[in-house]
Amino acid sequence: MHIRTLFFIILLPILLTSSIIPRPVEYTPAARQYKDCALGRVRVRTDRRCTKEFRERTAALPEFARREAYEIRIFPGRTCIQALTPEGEFRARQTLRKIALADTSKLCCTIFDYPRYEHRGLMIDESRSFKGKEFLRKQIDAMALLGLNRLHLHLTDAAGWRIEIKSNPELTRKAAWRLGTLYAEWEGKGYPFASEDTPGAYGGYYSQEDLREIVAYAAERYIEVIPEIEMPGHSMEVNRTFPEIACKDSTGRSRNFSWDLCPGNEGTFKLLEDILTEVISIFPCRYVHIGGDEAVMKDWGECVNCRRRMQEEGFTEVRQLQGYLVGRIARWLSAHGRTAVGWDEILETGIPGDAVVMSWRGSAGGKKAAALGHKVIMSPNTHCYFDYYQDLIRKEPLAVGELTSLHWVYTYDPGDDPMIMGLQANLWCEKVPTTSHAEYMLYPRLFAISEIGWTPGSYKRDPEEFRPRARTLLDVFRDLGYNTFDMDTETDFARGGFRRTQKGEIINPAF
Ligand code: ACM
Ligand code: ZN
Repeated sequence: MHIRTLFFIILLPILLTSSIIPRPVEYTPAARQYKDCALGRVRVRTDRRCTKEFRERTAALPEFARREAYEIRIFPGRTCIQALTPEGEFRARQTLRKIALADTSKLCCTIFDYPRYEHRGLMIDESRSFKGKEFLRKQIDAMALLGLNRLHLHLTDAAGWRIEIKSNPELTRKAAWRLGTLYAEWEGKGYPFASEDTPGAYGGYYSQEDLREIVAYAAERYIEVIPEIEMPGHSMEVNRTFPEIACKDSTGRSRNFSWDLCPGNEGTFKLLEDILTEVISIFPCRYVHIGGDEAVMKDWGECVNCRRRMQEEGFTEVRQLQGYLVGRIARWLSAHGRTAVGWDEILETGIPGDAVVMSWRGSAGGKKAAALGHKVIMSPNTHCYFDYYQDLIRKEPLAVGELTSLHWVYTYDPGDDPMIMGLQANLWCEKVPTTSHAEYMLYPRLFAISEIGWTPGSYKRDPEEFRPRARTLLDVFRDLGYNTFDMDTETDFARGGFRRTQKGEIINPAF
C-alpha cells in the first residue's frame, strides 16, 4: 500500500480524534479519510425528516437533551446535520464552527451528541462593576460556542443597582452611581453614592429596553437570561434609596446603611413585588434568582417592625425572618408562573418545595437540597468561583485568596443525582474592575465548565488531555478578540502540583 494511502485510510483515524470542547458524546472518524473533509455544503434534516435511527437513538433521552441532541456527518465536500429541533441544529452548527476554527484534525466523521445537564451557566456580577451591553453580547457569543445555555446576571447588590425599574426610578437615580471605581475604593470612602452627573462618578445601569435586547440576543443563541434581584442581604443600596422602609434602631431612626432589607416592614414587600412585576415582564425565563445569601440579620433583633413580625408569626429566632421573606417572595413568584432560585442559605430557614437551590458554599448545601427534593445548581466556590486566582498570587492581578486553576476546575464533578440540574461558573467582580479583566478571569476556565456540563459523566476526564485542547481553543478566542489568561506562562504549581490542606482546600502560596 502506498504510504500516503496508508496514512489517510488507516493511521489517521486511529491517531487523531477531535480536539473540540466540549468533547462530544460520540465521535467516530470515518473508515476512509480524505484531505480537507470538513466544511462542505451543509444539509439539514430536522424533526420528522430525521432518520428513524436518529429518532430512536434520541427517544430515551431526557427532554432537555432531546431538544439539544444532534448528529453531524462530515463527508468530503458535504456535511449533514440531523436534529429534532432548531436548538439541536444550532448546537450542531456551533460544533461545525468549532471544527472549522479549532479542530486540529478535521476528519471525515460522524458525531452524535447531546448535553449531560440541562443547566450550563455563567453568572456575571454587574453590581460591583458594570459591564454594558457590548460586553454581554460578546460573552453570549462565547457561551454559544461553548454550548452553555444560561446567563445569570447579578443585577443588584450594595455596590450598585443596575436595572431600570419604572415604578421606582429612584433605585437607579440614587444607587447606580458611586464614588470609587474599584469596590475597595468605594468601601474605603464609606460607601458614597452619587448622581450620574457628579464629576468622577462611576456606574451605570441597563434600561429595560437594553435588557430586552440582551434577552433576545441570547434567545437567538438558545441561551436563557436569569435575572438576580438580591434579598434580604446585600441590599444596602435599597435602604439608602428608601430609608423609610429600612429597619429602625432603638431610637426609631431608620438604619439606611443596613446590609439587610427589613422583613418586618410591609413596604419592603410592596417594593419587592413592584420590582419583580417589572422583572418578569422583561425576562421570560422560568427562573428568577432572589439571592438569599449572607444576610447579616444584625439589625432585625432591635427593629420594632421586625420584632412585631416575629411576634405575629410566633418566631423564636431572628433568623426565621430570612425564611419568612424568602418564602413569601418565592410563593409570590410561583403564583406568577415563575420559580425562585436562591443561594444555599435559603435552605437553612425553610423554603417552598419548588425553589431551586444554588450551592455556593462548597457542594454540601447542594447535596442536602437534592436529598430534600429540591432542584439544585452546583456552583461551589471550591471550583466554580472565577474571581479566585488561576495561578500563583505573585504573577496574577489581584484576585480572591484560593487557587482555582484550569486543572482544578476541570476536576470538578457535580454528580449524577437527578435533582442536580447542572453547574455554573460565577464571576464576582469586587476585584474585577474592567471588561478585559473579566474576560481574563473567564477564559480558559469557562472551557472546563463547558465540558463538565456537556460531556457524559462516564467520560474519564484527564486535565493533561484537556490542556492542549484548551490551548488550541484559547488561540481561537484570542483571534476572536477576547482577552485571556496566558496558558504558556502557567506555573507547574497551577497545572497540578498544588498542595491541599487536610480539609481539601488548595493553598496558594504568596511567592
Ligand atoms: C455568594 O458568593 N455570596 C453567593
Ligand atoms: Zn426591620
